[in-house]
Amino acid sequence: PPTMTVKELADSLGASAADVIRTLMQNGIMATINQQIDYDTAEIIASELGYETRLVVPQTDEEKLLAELEEEQKRVSKGVLQPRPPVITVMGHVDHGKTKLLDTIRKTNVVAGEAGGITQHIGAYQVEYQGRKITFLDTPGHEAFTAMRARGAQVTDIVVLVVAADDGVRPQTLEALAHARAANVPIVVAINKIDREGANPDRVKQQLSEQGLVPDDWGGDTPFIPVSALTGEGIQDLLSILLLVADMRELKADPTRLAEGTIIEAHLDPNQGPTATVLVQNGTLKPRDFVLVGSVTGRIRVMFDDKGQKLRKAEPSTPARIIGLEGVPEAGDKLLVVTDEKLAKQVALQRAKAAQAAALVSNRPASLEELFKNA
Ligand code: GTP
Ligand code: MG
Repeated sequence: PPTMTVKELADSLGASAADVIRTLMQNGIMATINQQIDYDTAEIIASELGYETRLVVPQTDEEKLLAELEEEQKRVSKGVLQPRPPVITVMGHVDHGKTKLLDTIRKTNVVAGEAGGITQHIGAYQVEYQGRKITFLDTPGHEAFTAMRARGAQVTDIVVLVVAADDGVRPQTLEALAHARAANVPIVVAINKIDREGANPDRVKQQLSEQGLVPDDWGGDTPFIPVSALTGEGIQDLLSILLLVADMRELKADPTRLAEGTIIEAHLDPNQGPTATVLVQNGTLKPRDFVLVGSVTGRIRVMFDDKGQKLRKAEPSTPARIIGLEGVPEAGDKLLVVTDEKLAKQVALQRAKAAQAAALVSNRPASLEELFKNA
């Protein structure tokens, strides 16, 4: 908790230190002039001395930046909430067909007017189905997903749990299920590889029912959709159900705000420098925007969509590959468009220092015993 010295309190009130010390004593606190007292105590003493002013806890640069940003948002936002596309993550056991499923969806449902672009691997992409956009996050790997959640990044609206019909529920299926439940989002099960000999969709339903994930046609509330990522069978049904589940969540965002988003993937490109894929979650991101991302800042020089086409703007639920950051952020880092460049740089620096200090602490031998062992 924040503290101040007795002298600082006296000075800020314009009272004498002696008066402050006496009042403290009357409250059972023995403190000398240079001793620290907490803000709650300071406030009580101030009011007993007859001061009505509320003590303002000094803001950190980070709080200052956020407060400024909030003012700025009020200024620029028209306060309109508009429907946004759902963001969907595909998870499941290794080899059960996550990538193939996404490829098939992508090949048959490219956003109108974008066909022919070269496919880029940016970890996220958008398709259009029945005139509506759907954003898919390439299965980020369970570790990345866990890391992102641990950092408070909530990026997905719906999880598609892929289970191969010829293999059934496996350890990573259960792990994925646990992740989806922890994220507290609806689950849609895609029973994949139904074209295979030995495919047994009912067994998948049975196994997942045992985990409390009961198919809607068995009286539960989870859609199970039989599909084949190979032949394309059932893919349209899957997309329809995803839109239906999304509609029940009434997903909305305000495109008139300064953008906020989460980093999905980032790396150092040998030609373009630091490159990151951001999922815009609120507001609209534009080239020339100045951003704070974790402990990195930068001005967006250019943005691309998942086809490698230049983007002039990225609205809510749009994934964009951005160039112009001064360093490489981490997956799960929050991106904020900011207007106070200087303050943002300061905050970035402080975050970097804090991260460094934390790393030092965690690298220290855990106990004395260990210290001796290493000696
Ligand atoms: P990891 O990324 O390694 O976890 O695997 P994945 O879940 O992404 O599986 P992937 O899409 O790579 O598919 C694994 C294998 O199954 C590939 O050889 C696919 O061609 C095949 N496969 C995927 N879906 C189907 C399907 O519906 N039917 C058949 N017959 N094969 C499929
Ligand atoms: Mg894969």
